[in-house]
Order: sequence, then C-alpha cells, then structure tokens
Amino acid sequence: MKIVLVGYMASGKSTVGKELSSKLYIPFIDLDNFIEEGEGKSVSKIFEENGEIYFRKKEHQYLKQLLNSEDSFVLSLGGGTPCYAGNMDLVLNSDASSIYLKASLKTLYNRLQKQKETRPLVASISDKKLSEFIAKHLFERRFYYEKANFNLTIDDKKVSDIVAELRILLH
Ligand code: S3P
Repeated sequence: MKIVLVGYMASGKSTVGKELSSKLYIPFIDLDNFIEEGEGKSVSKIFEENGEIYFRKKEHQYLKQLLNSEDSFVLSLGGGTPCYAGNMDLVLNSDASSIYLKASLKTLYNRLQKQKETRPLVASISDKKLSEFIAKHLFERRFYYEKANFNLTIDDKKVSDIVAELRILLH
C-alpha cells in the first residue's frame, strides 16, 4: 500500500502522514528528509549550495525511486514536488493513492509566518509580502494539487479527525 500526501508548505503533510502511517502500521517517509539523507545535507543547504534546479532534479529522482519500489508507505511530498518534472503524473500513474491536504490562504499564512526559517523559499520574505507570495503560489500550484485522487479540506480540523477522514476515504 502506498499513500502520497500533497499540499502546500505547512499544510500538515508530515504531521498527518506520521499519524496515518502509525494507524496503518506502515512506514512514514518525508520526501524532503529522504532527499536530505541521500544527499547528506539539509534542503536549505542544497538550495544554498546547489540551487533550486538541482534540488528539483533530485526531488524527481528520489520520488521515482520510492514509487518504483515494492514498499508500502505513507509519503509526504514537498510543497513544490507535484508541480515539477511531471511528478504528479508519476504519482497518478503509480499504484499509490494520493490525497491533497487543502488549506486556506489564512491558515497557511498563520502557520508559515511562525516557521519561515526552515523553508528556503519563504525564509527571506517579509510578513507583509508573505500573504501575496502564498496566494500567487496557490494560484499556480492548485492545478497540480487538485489532480490528486482525493482532496480534503483541513482548516481548523484536529489531526486525529483528519486522519479518521483519510482512513474513510482510503477504505
Ligand atoms: C518547497 C517545499 C518544501 C521543500 C522545499 C521547497 C516548495 O517542503 O521541499 O523547501 O517548493 O513548496 P514542505 O512542503 O515540506 O515544507
């Protein structure tokens, strides 16, 4: 069984993914962490030292490797993963079930404002410009996210409730 979670930065992919994986007794993999282990450095360092294009190439390569494996897992993608290199089609053509964790601009802004440092794309954006940045991104990225097999709105929901809803969707 393969489950792939997609959605914008700070939409809760990793938090939800970890809890879902423990309920299903299958491993949880965060694609960013998987890349970090493979490359021996953090995503922020990869952006800084090798640039975003290199990161996108690696992201594609590691995603393909995971999807082609025989393994079962809950995999959380990076916020940009579905939007590059035909990655979303790769997911859709695999045997994985994909879910878009859909969060409003307000939720994403409130969360991201507090956790910018670990995210190279927004680290240097002022709070004033952050909302506009997310809105523009969502406009561009929604097209890819919404291709997922299921779309689930997560605003104001508890993690345990989101996981319960996911289990019903995946049944
Ligand atoms: C990115 C999101 C990040 C990470 C990288 C780029 C994006 O993942 O892959 O910083 O383009 O939205 P998270 O969504 O896990 O923060």
